[in-house]
Amino acid sequence: MDLTVFDNLRRIIYRESGIVLTDDKGSLLLSRIQGRLIELKLHDVGQYLQLILDDQGGGELTKLIDAISTNTTYFYREPRHFDLLREHLGELRRSGQKEIKIWCGAASTGEEPYTLCFEALELLDPISNSLRILATDISNRALEVAVQGIYAPETVKPVPDIVRLKYMEPVLTPDGEFWRVRSKIRSHVLFKKFNLTRFPYRLQGSIDVIFLRNVMIYFDGATRQSIINEMSRLLKPGGLLFIGVTESLLGVNHNLSKVDTSVFKKGKG
Ligand SMILES: C[S@@+](CC[C@H](N)C(=O)[O-])C[C@H]1O[C@@H](n2cnc3c(N)ncnc32)[C@H](O)[C@@H]1O
Repeated sequence: MDLTVFDNLRRIIYRESGIVLTDDKGSLLLSRIQGRLIELKLHDVGQYLQLILDDQGGGELTKLIDAISTNTTYFYREPRHFDLLREHLGELRRSGQKEIKIWCGAASTGEEPYTLCFEALELLDPISNSLRILATDISNRALEVAVQGIYAPETVKPVPDIVRLKYMEPVLTPDGEFWRVRSKIRSHVLFKKFNLTRFPYRLQGSIDVIFLRNVMIYFDGATRQSIINEMSRLLKPGGLLFIGVTESLLGVNHNLSKVDTSVFKKGKG
């Protein structure tokens, strides 16, 4: 790909999503937008760049961000985190707290927020606790899948049978039998488009648990710092922040205390 075209495209992607494409990512970008070029019948990436620059409505820009975002996720990813989540929710329940608020900040196609939902429902008291999960992502394409809550049999394999049968139901699709999260369960999860790199966040604070896993790897240090400032502000005192197990907060200033691998707690004081 022409270097100037690559530079322009990566600058736009950074401005719109915070996603950093290093010098060696030209072929990755090309492979991700190949489908757009074919669909739009464009012969080269320069034409695609021009289309993005002329795109007043922002529709193609949205598709570009969809194409570049990596949505890899699965049910019960990094399972140790869900043990810690259960412990924390157990403490909240015992303390008599009624409303539990969870935010999943890079929800992708929904497997992570639904896992949170299943685990929280297993633990909380259906009569005295109310559960609200906000699940956000920048990718429209991913959120469309998440809202449907329909998954292929291979995708639901990590969900223990007993949990799957309780919270999901079989549904016949043109591709065969899939599994759908039951509508009552889906109603606990509110999916919304949200860009983690637009500050300050217009969200209500006092959040008990934030999952922000496997997304900060795409950002630079300054963006990570601003994100952690916002997360720390929105967490309730005593609340937990989970990041991906391969991620760290090294180089980020914060006053959270580390309670386990990639799990941080906001002080009560
Ligand atoms: C690799 S997935 C991680 C999904 C899930 N958290 C997990 O750990 O399985 C990264 C997600 O971050 C989202 N993302 C990337 N940049 C974002 C931004 N600026 N704001 C919100 N979400 C973003 C992508 O769309 C993608 O769905």
